[in-house]
Amino acid sequence: MKAAILAAGEGTRMRPLTVTRPKVMLPVANRPMLEQIIISARDAGITEFVCVVGYMGDLVRAYFGDGERMGVQIDYVEQKEQLGTAHAIGTVRELVGDRFLLLNGDAIVGSSDLRSIVSRGGDVIMAVKEVDSIEGYGVVATAGDRVVEIIEKPEQTAKTGQAGQTGRAASNLVNAGIYLFSDAIFDAIDETKKSIRGEYEITDSIQSLIDDTGAGVDVGYSTLDTWIDIGRPWNLLDANEYLLSGMGTEIAGEIEPYATLKGNVVVGAGTIIRNGSYITGPVMIGENCDIGPNCFVRPGTSLGNNVRIGNAVEIKNSIVMDKTNIGHLSYVGDSVIGSGCNFGAGTKIANLRHDGRNVRVVLKDVPVDTGRRKLGAIMGDNVHTGINTCINVGVMLDPGTGTHPGEVVME
Ligand code: UD1
Ligand code: MG
Repeated sequence: MKAAILAAGEGTRMRPLTVTRPKVMLPVANRPMLEQIIISARDAGITEFVCVVGYMGDLVRAYFGDGERMGVQIDYVEQKEQLGTAHAIGTVRELVGDRFLLLNGDAIVGSSDLRSIVSRGGDVIMAVKEVDSIEGYGVVATAGDRVVEIIEKPEQTAKTGQAGQTGRAASNLVNAGIYLFSDAIFDAIDETKKSIRGEYEITDSIQSLIDDTGAGVDVGYSTLDTWIDIGRPWNLLDANEYLLSGMGTEIAGEIEPYATLKGNVVVGAGTIIRNGSYITGPVMIGENCDIGPNCFVRPGTSLGNNVRIGNAVEIKNSIVMDKTNIGHLSYVGDSVIGSGCNFGAGTKIANLRHDGRNVRVVLKDVPVDTGRRKLGAIMGDNVHTGINTCINVGVMLDPGTGTHPGEVVME
């Protein structure tokens, strides 16, 4: 069985990180999330993939090539305009055979979950997961072993007054964006009209299969154990933490005497961990990094390749992408830092509000409660901070921006 993966979207909710790369190329545990998904599917026995690329698709093709490095075969199809998930799935029609696995490119899923989905019979199986907050998802109603209704983003439907059949979320069970399809889905896609969001949505196509009782196409479901959706920038931290919790220790680089490594730590080839560094795993450090002397790297941290962490720097539960320098006297907590950034000495990122509230951020001009007590900064690529810059909780910095010495960045 082949797997098709949707990877054409920009990920506008992931800006500023996606200004310079498509969402699927954002790293978790030092690999693009798309690579983590392919690894998971490969471990479930799938070796042939079709990736639907679009926004900055060349970066995806250049990184994965024909898949040989990963021991799989990858074909590509280009979706020139991102008109929605149904439209994206329609592009793979001639490439996937009569039954195939379809995965959104923006969620981490366990390989045993995928294994149990591909072993199922039936025309359509939708993977579902119980979540705390249904906002941003398709909500699923079931009866027995069947899906009977999908309400896409019910909070938006309610706002526009164009309520679906029930007009409200019946449960906390959501569509995980992973499906087993038969080729019956393509005829349903052909019939699908634009949604209130102006997109062709696969959830509408599936709903039409459910409603068309004459067609005799069953829609079943499969409940996932492990699924981490990456819809907002801070979800990268959740996915990173999850993947790091499952890793072992692997040391390819050099550890100087009097550097301390505790718990599981991965140190890539060509990396040096200098004297006095104190690293408490799980921590993943890429290749050709220069770490220390005298720094403190705490659990949940992934440092990409060619990263420099210098003297008296403390960093916890963060993702730092390739070629970033955090050279001296800095604190970085619960943050996502793009590639090619440079931190002036003494740059500090706040990651906790003193009033006990969750950190809020502004996404697409709308204030959003992140649900997190702790969140630092989301920094695009090539940001340069002046010395003693203070960055407040939940601040997002566009790629290529900079701060003055002593600047306090509140928003
Ligand atoms: C989608 C589902 C929602 C589900 C959620 C789970 C639809 C309409 N909704 O919503 O029911 O709960 O996933 O995370 O499918 N993409 C393309 N081309 C396009 C549009 C999207 O390739 O034209 C890709 C994106 O890059 C992404 C994936 O498809 O990898 C899903 O798109 P996204 O916009 O993230 O859908 P959600 O709003 O998350
Ligand atoms: Mg999504």
